[in-house]
Amino acid sequence: MKKHNFSAGPCILPQDVLNKASEAVRNFNGLDLSLIEISHRSADFVAVMEKARHLVLELMGIENKGYSVLFLQGGASLEFLMVPYNLMSIGGKAAYLDTGTWSSKAIKEAKLLGDVEVMASSKEANYNFIPRGYTVPTDVDYVHCTSNNTIFGTQMKEFPQTDAPLVCDMSSDIFSRQLDFSKFDLIYAGAQKNMGPAGTTLVVVRDEILGKTGRTIPSMLDYQVHISKDSMFNTPAVFPVYVSMLTLEWLKSLGGIKTIEKMNRDKAQLLYDEIDRNPLFKGAAKKEDRSDMNVTFLLTDQSKKGEFDHLWKEAGINGLNGHRSVGGYRASIYNAMPIESVQVLVDIMNKL
Ligand SMILES: Cc1ncc(COP(=O)(O)O)c(C=O)c1O
Repeated sequence: MKKHNFSAGPCILPQDVLNKASEAVRNFNGLDLSLIEISHRSADFVAVMEKARHLVLELMGIENKGYSVLFLQGGASLEFLMVPYNLMSIGGKAAYLDTGTWSSKAIKEAKLLGDVEVMASSKEANYNFIPRGYTVPTDVDYVHCTSNNTIFGTQMKEFPQTDAPLVCDMSSDIFSRQLDFSKFDLIYAGAQKNMGPAGTTLVVVRDEILGKTGRTIPSMLDYQVHISKDSMFNTPAVFPVYVSMLTLEWLKSLGGIKTIEKMNRDKAQLLYDEIDRNPLFKGAAKKEDRSDMNVTFLLTDQSKKGEFDHLWKEAGINGLNGHRSVGGYRASIYNAMPIESVQVLVDIMNKL
């Protein structure tokens, strides 16, 4: 039996993608060679990189709008540093919204290179909501936010209005919902949620915001260096890039972000309805800020914990334990999660 995989990341990927990826490891494009033993500069792999880049822009609806797409390494965590390196002027300042652990890690790195104004924070409430009504400063090099807070289960529905470049960490909800992507100047995301295996990071950047800081940037941290080499300044993570391309193809074949958004809404609704209906459970995040990707919830009666844990494990559910900073449970229901698996969980909650 295949498990119902609710892991937060790395996480579930479409079965069809896994099958194609396995075949490519054995025999890529009928070459009688593995994808992971050919040159990244071979025509076959260059075509993969080009296709992946093109699918990103196509799915986001931002083709021919002055954006470059990069597949880098170092995870989203390295972007916490690369963003200020590339956008913070010497003696400059940036504005950050502090909505969770990952935002605060991004803030820590940015402070290495300049002033950081934290526009608002929900830290005092253990990040169970998205701040509203804050003032966005105008004298900043860029504004940074995190669209989905993987650990706390909150998701931004509105984004800061600003004339400064808008930067967003979309690691845990990229390609999950329709957004006007042209409102963002730099988007980054570790692949290992909605895109592929860990090992590559997607960066989508508006070219015109780069090269303005007056800083000397180490080559590996310089977006312009990576753009000029089509993400092949050094050896790219060939397997994660290939699997990302397959996942993007899968998403396109489903009908793109519009279709997956509807499926994601339905899955989240099914689970939140049970959480709100069942007196044994309560949601961890404020209702209006709930995430459609990471559903965090708690038992109201701890004496039921043993029974509940036994039931979901017995049903083949994997990865449901909450992050230690929230406790309880977290059901990560990313793009590839079928609604049938969510129904299995809901049925168990109902039975408790
Ligand atoms: C929203 C968000 N940002 C950043 C990260 C860090 O990503 P990485 O492990 O790829 O550095 C994560 C990891 O879960 C995340 O969920």
